[in-house]
Order: sequence, then C-alpha cells, then structure tokens
Amino acid sequence: MSEAAILNEVPAQDKAPPAAQPVRDRLLAGCSLVARPVGELAAALPGATAVFRRHKLDFCCGGAATLAEAAAGRGLDPAAIAAELAALDPALPDATPSTAEGLIDLILARYHAVHRRDLPELVKLARRVEAVHRGKPGTPEGLAAVLERMQAELESHMAKEEAILFPLLRAGPDSPMASMAAAPIARMRFEHDEHGAELRQIAVLTGELTLPEGACGTFRALYANLARFQDDLTTHIHLENNVLFPLFAIGDMPDGSCRAMTAGH
Ligand SMILES: [Fe+2]
Ligand SMILES: [Fe+2]
Repeated sequence: MSEAAILNEVPAQDKAPPAAQPVRDRLLAGCSLVARPVGELAAALPGATAVFRRHKLDFCCGGAATLAEAAAGRGLDPAAIAAELAALDPALPDATPSTAEGLIDLILARYHAVHRRDLPELVKLARRVEAVHRGKPGTPEGLAAVLERMQAELESHMAKEEAILFPLLRAGPDSPMASMAAAPIARMRFEHDEHGAELRQIAVLTGELTLPEGACGTFRALYANLARFQDDLTTHIHLENNVLFPLFAIGDMPDGSCRAMTAGH
C-alpha cells in the first residue's frame, strides 16, 4: 500500500472529526467556560495550558471533552478551574502563529526536530537505568521498549505529516487542496490518540516520574528528559489537534453551540 493510501486509511470511528472550528471567534459566546471543550480553551486562552497541566487535565488527545467532563474525570471542581481560567490576564500576548503556514513552520522546527533529537538519547538512558537497577523497587521496567516503539511510530507519523498532509495545509484553508485534507487529518488525530495512550503508559510505568530513594544521576537525567518529552509531545499534539486542524474543519458546530452541558455550572 502506498504511503498516501496508508495516510488516508481512516478507522471507521474516526471518520467524523471531533468538533473543531476557529476557536477565537466562538470563545465565551453564549455558554460558560465549563461547557467549552478543553482543547478549544487551551487554544484560545493564553496561559490555559499551564492551568491544565497543573491539574493534569488532558487538553491534547482528550481535547474534545468539555471542562466539566475533564474535571469530573479527575475528581476536580470544574467551577474552580473555570475561575482560574477567567483570572488569566487577557492582555497577555499569544505567541502562537495564527496561519497554517506559521503553525507548520513552528511545529517542524520546535517539535518534529526536537523529538528526533531527544528520543534516541531517551531510549539509551532508559536502557541503562533498566539494566543497572533491574529488580529494584521503582525501576521502570519496560520503559525502553515503550520509548523505542514511540520513536518508530513518531518517525512514521511525522514523515506522513511532512510528505503529505502539511504540503496540503500550506496552501491554506481556502485552497481547493484543503478539501483533500479531511481524511489525512482524521488519520493523524487517530494516531495522536495512540501517542496519548503511550504517554499514559509511561506515566504508569514511572509512577508519574517518581524517583526512588537514592536515585543515581542517570536515573535523574532520564526522568528530567522524560518530563520535557511529555511536555513537548503534549504541546505538539495540542497545536495540531486544537489549533492547526480546526483551521480546516469540515462540519463545524454552529456558532456559540455548546457540547453536553453539566447542569448547575
Ligand atoms: Fe506533528
Ligand atoms: Fe501529529
């Protein structure tokens, strides 16, 4: 099967893309923050991603969930998080590019290149830690294998974006070429969900990056580098799922519409 055919092979349940549309236009129009998808809030409110990270709310692969749903999933009060979001300084400049061209340039330079630089070293560090500390409590056994698999999957994923999807998107949302992007976008969203599942697997294997007592320098370096990789991949997926792809959304919800709303918020 050709690379283009693989890219267009979209799992049935993913053929309808999640609700997505230019977020800035709809922000706060007609319903409260808790009824907004977290991915949309992360894209539209400068500073929101830091709030979501602090509360460990998934705003990249789980970005279609409303704030009410995401907070409930972690046993948190959505109104308290909404209050934190409302208190963010609206005058803070948003450094995220607004055009497809600008977003793609940022993604390639800041995320694709950095994953390619960092993942081989992460695999080496994980292998060394597993070999030296094998059998001891707190050793993340199986981590190197997960990272090796992610390295291969991310390389294939990024190569498809670079060779097929991004050239289509660079033409802009109004180009006739944009209509060809729907299936590849759905396929990339599906693969992002797989990457998100692997990030959760890493969190479990490492006890959310909890170092054992007396951890050596290599162990500390591994977890520090892993924290950076998790952060980078989360932001990378967020920029694609919640900022870039919505520029090309097909079948958007009407303006001001809200997803399933939790009564009382
Ligand atoms: Fe990417
Ligand atoms: Fe991607």
